[in-house]
Amino acid sequence: MGSDKMLRESAAQRVFGPQAGVYASSPVHIEDPSLDAMRQMVARTPAATASDMRYGWALDLGTGAGFTAFAMAEFSHQVLAVDPTLGMLQQAQRIASERELSNVAVSRNVAEALPVASGSLDLVTTRMAAHHFQDFEVMLDEVRRVLKPGGVLLMADSVAPEEDDVARWMNGIELRRDYSHIENRKATHIESLMEDRGLKVSEREFTRIGLRFNDWAARTATSEAETNALRKDFLTASTAVKEAFQIDPVAGDDAEDISFSWPCIIYRAVKG
Ligand SMILES: C[S@@+](CC[C@H](N)C(=O)[O-])C[C@H]1O[C@@H](n2cnc3c(N)ncnc32)[C@H](O)[C@@H]1O
Repeated sequence: MGSDKMLRESAAQRVFGPQAGVYASSPVHIEDPSLDAMRQMVARTPAATASDMRYGWALDLGTGAGFTAFAMAEFSHQVLAVDPTLGMLQQAQRIASERELSNVAVSRNVAEALPVASGSLDLVTTRMAAHHFQDFEVMLDEVRRVLKPGGVLLMADSVAPEEDDVARWMNGIELRRDYSHIENRKATHIESLMEDRGLKVSEREFTRIGLRFNDWAARTATSEAETNALRKDFLTASTAVKEAFQIDPVAGDDAEDISFSWPCIIYRAVKG
């Protein structure tokens, strides 16, 4: 699949383009436990090859407004923040310049066709984005191609529980709220796809992405009718679903709101 074709046709750009400003000020994207876990993983295992222990070139895939790229800028000489959505890249550039980060550049590309030579990178990161990629397996092929031997992939994303019914509920809900949603995969599936490509998992950390229903629905400009239908489906979900996603109506002034969380795994994998 050529990069040009994917850049022209992507539903993700239609969803994320108009909402780029909202993502740029979204608290859960600006900072959350998954970003902190990525920082800790990269700090614990600095690049062994460089004299100052920083990574050389890093790539952040599905960078959105750039928050993961900015976090990695501290640990890398140069970070290329990759995303197909122009509005997102404009937000990333604006925030990078506000934060006076001179080692972050943006590149308008999809994760499945990277404009980078084979075996040239020390670090690839992606956070809260891989479930949007049109072809997750091609993205992993590309990550393997562009990493140097011993190079590191840090991938943080929401995952589906292993129970089929609960996983189906999560993906159905996400697709109704965001028609560019592709798939939240089970951890067992993700790990076997990485291992198949010689991306050996060396660390995994489990966390949760804590969300409020009203903000979550508004972030993708979900219609009022669909928002109401989704709210009803959260409140009437099975016990297994409510437990898996910690679904809880918010008491008090926000009576219409619901707190919930998606399970999230942060992987560190090394190219063999
Ligand atoms: C939720 S945002 C990412 C958040 C960001 N990584 C962060 O840490 O704040 C998801 C991003 O994935 C991007 N995206 C969708 N499909 C993509 C693809 N095939 N390749 C790369 N990025 C893609 C969207 O344009 C959007 O900016």
